[in-house]
Amino acid sequence: MHEGSDPNRVEHAAAPEDPTPTSAPHGADTAVADPPVAPGEVDDAPAGDVAADGAEAPLLPEPQVEAHARAKERGAYYATTPIFYVNAAPHIGHAYTTILVDVVTRFHRLRGDDTFFLTGTDEHGENVQKAAESHGKTPQEYADDVAGQFRSTWDRLGIRYDEFIRTTEERHKRVVRAVLQKVYDAGDIIYGEYAGLYCVRCERYYTEKELVDGKCPQHEIEPEYRTEANYFFRMEKYRTWLRDLLHEQPDLIRPERYRNEVLAMLREPIGDLSISRPRARVPWGIPLPWDEEHVTYVWFDALLNYWSALVSRDAEERYWPHVEHFIAKDILKPHGLFWPIMLKAAGIPIYQHLNVHGYWLIDDRKMSKSLGNVVRPLDLQKKYGNDAFRYFLVRDMNFGLDASFTEPAIAERINSDLANDLGNLLNRTLGMLGRYRDGVVPAPGPLEPIDEGLKDAFLALPDTFARQFDALQFDRAIENVMEAVRKANKYIADTKPWELAKDEADAQRLDTVLHTLVEALRCASILLDPVIPAKAHELRKQLGIKNAPYDLASASEWGLIPPGTQTQPGEPLFPRIDLEALAQQIEDEARAAEEAALAAERAAAEPEPLEHKPEITIHDFAKTELRVVTVEAAERHPNADKLLVLTVRMGPETRTVVSGIQQHYAPDDLVGKKLVLVTNLQPVTIRGVESQGMILAAEDDDGQLSLVTLDRDLADASEVR
Ligand code: MSP
Repeated sequence: MHEGSDPNRVEHAAAPEDPTPTSAPHGADTAVADPPVAPGEVDDAPAGDVAADGAEAPLLPEPQVEAHARAKERGAYYATTPIFYVNAAPHIGHAYTTILVDVVTRFHRLRGDDTFFLTGTDEHGENVQKAAESHGKTPQEYADDVAGQFRSTWDRLGIRYDEFIRTTEERHKRVVRAVLQKVYDAGDIIYGEYAGLYCVRCERYYTEKELVDGKCPQHEIEPEYRTEANYFFRMEKYRTWLRDLLHEQPDLIRPERYRNEVLAMLREPIGDLSISRPRARVPWGIPLPWDEEHVTYVWFDALLNYWSALVSRDAEERYWPHVEHFIAKDILKPHGLFWPIMLKAAGIPIYQHLNVHGYWLIDDRKMSKSLGNVVRPLDLQKKYGNDAFRYFLVRDMNFGLDASFTEPAIAERINSDLANDLGNLLNRTLGMLGRYRDGVVPAPGPLEPIDEGLKDAFLALPDTFARQFDALQFDRAIENVMEAVRKANKYIADTKPWELAKDEADAQRLDTVLHTLVEALRCASILLDPVIPAKAHELRKQLGIKNAPYDLASASEWGLIPPGTQTQPGEPLFPRIDLEALAQQIEDEARAAEEAALAAERAAAEPEPLEHKPEITIHDFAKTELRVVTVEAAERHPNADKLLVLTVRMGPETRTVVSGIQQHYAPDDLVGKKLVLVTNLQPVTIRGVESQGMILAAEDDDGQLSLVTLDRDLADASEVR
């Protein structure tokens, strides 16, 4: 067995009886593995070999490979969010990625691309199993519940995904098993043993070096030392292939800083990846198709959702050539390292881009339950409105970098961009149209340079906007539109329509100015549509063109609003937020939270009253037979890692007792001990072993156990009363 030095350079050992394992068949009960991979003696096979390996038996048959190449030419777009764990309710971080992908896919639809948007939930693994237990639910009930919360949150945020995939769905599990079998048959999954420090929350092993003060850097908890016999995915074999790929396609992982991070990981051996967990310990997972005693490691299962969602609807040919993943930096390693290698090993083409964003910090601190600063998207949506919330998230994060979230920042952004610039432009334009032209859009006269200037500024936007979206510069794309909007406000100040309105001789000039303004608003509404879809629609409705086309091409044309169109002014698009009242409210909320925390602390300090069972009589109690027994033998239960099987003597009788104390007592320490047994309990069979009674033990709130023993030596079989 090998002590792990790097979780993703997992070293596995050959079974001792198999000194030349490389050519041996790999099977569930023939525990064979490659010789351990030691740093420095890594098989640096030329990339070509691996490429040939991977291409030998692609999951996509030959005609589909060609179709893949052809499909790439087509205007299509397939975007994914991570599938979120179901052990926590949706927060602003989950909402950001999902809203961003919603914005990006709406943009591609505007552009006329055949677009597909996938999101979903990641439902297997130890964490979900434990979270379910702590809620008194089965893992499936628990997953159903939280997956429902994600769906309804996305629905309420107006997110238009095309598919919501759950890893507990049969259609997903089927594909995972098929891919596993394929990779296993190709010899890229092998059996071996591993020992190391494991964070149960991350569900991965850590090296000592990666820990911070001995704790997992993500969850700040101490990892457990674990040894396990597992199946390993032979990632190391593909290391040079991936490194070369990242050089050939420098923007495969972007922005560049994240590509560099992955390249840095590839500079040293990456080892092999443990891709199974013993089913006895983690039953909540997809059993390996060739060995039902092991379930699939959550990451190998989860990453495949991006592919299985398409396979299950026969859409892989249509969309896979266009796949774009959006994730945050926290899951760069599985997506930048494991996933491309998994795809390669399975003979599936690699993704187009891995697009990696930074983290939303809350007042510059990491968001966490323990800090009590988790921000819920629906709270903000209720307070500020859906579109304003979306606008803030996309406008205020520079893709790739961290951003800081504060409520005053949302409010200021709404007031400046949405209320002042955009809202004002609409109000002033509709107000003047109402005052001077009965709310009817006039036909324009000849354009003067100032009108041409504004028109050109707007007509230049779609190209720049598309380029910036393609380059992940969402904040700048929006800012460019807002700059044009500000220009339009300045145009009003410069052309002074109120002066023109005073003189009938300037009527045509006034018509031109008003017409230019409504056109500018129409173009802005199209470009902003992906970000603020409901308000953009409302804006067009107020302009009187709610049914007019609003694809990207129509934002590159001028003069599409027919003269004579009746405008329909309504409520302001974005009401201003009273910053002083907001500051007061934030202060009040902070005070209330502080008081609640104090009250909770006080309540915790007072001991809770004990809960008692209903009273019984002495006769009821006398029905229970309790006797002293001596432990003669103790061994681990063959089928359960929490149970011990004890052989106890009680005078002339010997009994077998199954007891859930394996994690608290070593079998050898129990032999010879005098314990107390409930002797007249009906026998039960626990995992195949009959238990003839129950040993008494005390348990505290932390789950610590102590066996009930005697403080004086009495003969076994003595009665306890
Ligand atoms: N289940 C895995 C992903 C499997 S994908 C095959 C997982 N789930 S998660 O629920 O933890 O979600 C992580 C993702 O949530 C991040 O990559 C990011 O998209 C989003 N965010 C979580 N916290 C975030 C911030 N504080 N800021 C921005 N996005 C964040 O990992």
